[in-house]
Amino acid sequence: MDTLVDIRRLKKHFPILGGVLRRPVGAVKAVDGVSLAIKRGQWLGLVGESGCGKTTLAKTLIRLWKPTSGHIYFDVPDVVKAEIEMLESQDKNGSKLNSLLKENDLGTFSSSRVRSFHRRAQLVHQDPFTSLNPRMKIKNIVAEPLKIHHVLSGHAVETAVEELLDKVGLSSGQLERYPHQFSGGQRQRIAIARALATKPEFIAFDEPTSALDVSVQAQILNLLKDLKREFGLTYLYITHELLIAESVCDYIAVMYVGKVVEMGKPEEIFHTPRHPYSQSLIAATPVPDPTRRVGRIVLPGEVPSPANPPPGCHFNPRCSRASDECREFEPELKLISNDHYVACFYPL
Ligand SMILES: Nc1ncnc2c1ncn2[C@@H]1O[C@H](COP(=O)(O)OP(=O)(O)OP(=O)(O)O)[C@@H](O)[C@H]1O
Ligand SMILES: [Mg+2]
Repeated sequence: MDTLVDIRRLKKHFPILGGVLRRPVGAVKAVDGVSLAIKRGQWLGLVGESGCGKTTLAKTLIRLWKPTSGHIYFDVPDVVKAEIEMLESQDKNGSKLNSLLKENDLGTFSSSRVRSFHRRAQLVHQDPFTSLNPRMKIKNIVAEPLKIHHVLSGHAVETAVEELLDKVGLSSGQLERYPHQFSGGQRQRIAIARALATKPEFIAFDEPTSALDVSVQAQILNLLKDLKREFGLTYLYITHELLIAESVCDYIAVMYVGKVVEMGKPEEIFHTPRHPYSQSLIAATPVPDPTRRVGRIVLPGEVPSPANPPPGCHFNPRCSRASDECREFEPELKLISNDHYVACFYPL
């Protein structure tokens, strides 16, 4: 499988403004040096506690937000990325490096190039009620991306919208309705139809089922599985529900305070997690109970603020194994076995 999405040392910091003049006095380091690759056709799950930077990572990698630094590559050949890394390490050849970055790094793209990139990559939000315009009919909501990107016009748009609604399990009889006339699960289907309109290769889902009942969750997950197979899609799937991540994802990344601390196949992450944070996250997962929705993950101890993370490993204040090394130095992600990476000096 080749790599479709490749982010390297990605940072997204939000300035904290203070004083009468509203000058920057600090920064919320929501995403603070994340490197992650998503292979074509992969379903990558991104998990972690509230506020650890999952949404920021998704919005930045899809270029709804401009990164603070780092690189975002989408469908860029390995040789090109290797050349960029080589030129960066040599710290010379500025014009060659700049032209390669301008051509290939999404972080540098102008707004018109970002717009055309959005034909290929889409984001589906947690709550379609806020992301779907309440004053627009469903047919116009789903048709909007086709018009914005000049994919189709005239009667062809109507036919395409009907086909898209059919793909997500809604009928063309519902075209004239407004979002409030649908249930939560149906609204999420509409958001998915809209995301599919431009025939993207990649879709990022930001907790798409966490506002839904368990039975509706299962239907939406089945729909996502079918669509992925039919259209050969690649997914980034953000979720608090570890049981869902384990059941549907091919690969898992665990995030903690702006960083990815562990990545691996679901069986490794959920059965033999090696980072102390992943271990406690999994230990805190409620046991399956079909009568109740799995809540947000709550671990003992305070999550550090991304505006003022502790020095060294960000997990050290909550880690029973932390040593002086952990309090002073930041561990990098290291390959510890086949496709399993851990950022810890003392992996379990
Ligand atoms: N637009 C913004 N301006 C300033 N700070 C922001 C902004 N968006 C997010 N943050 C901060 O960045 C950090 C990461 O937020 P983010 O929404 O990415 O977390 P998350 O992992 O998606 O959380 P949740 O699970 O609750 O959705 C938080 O401290 C948040 O307050
Ligand atoms: Mg979020």
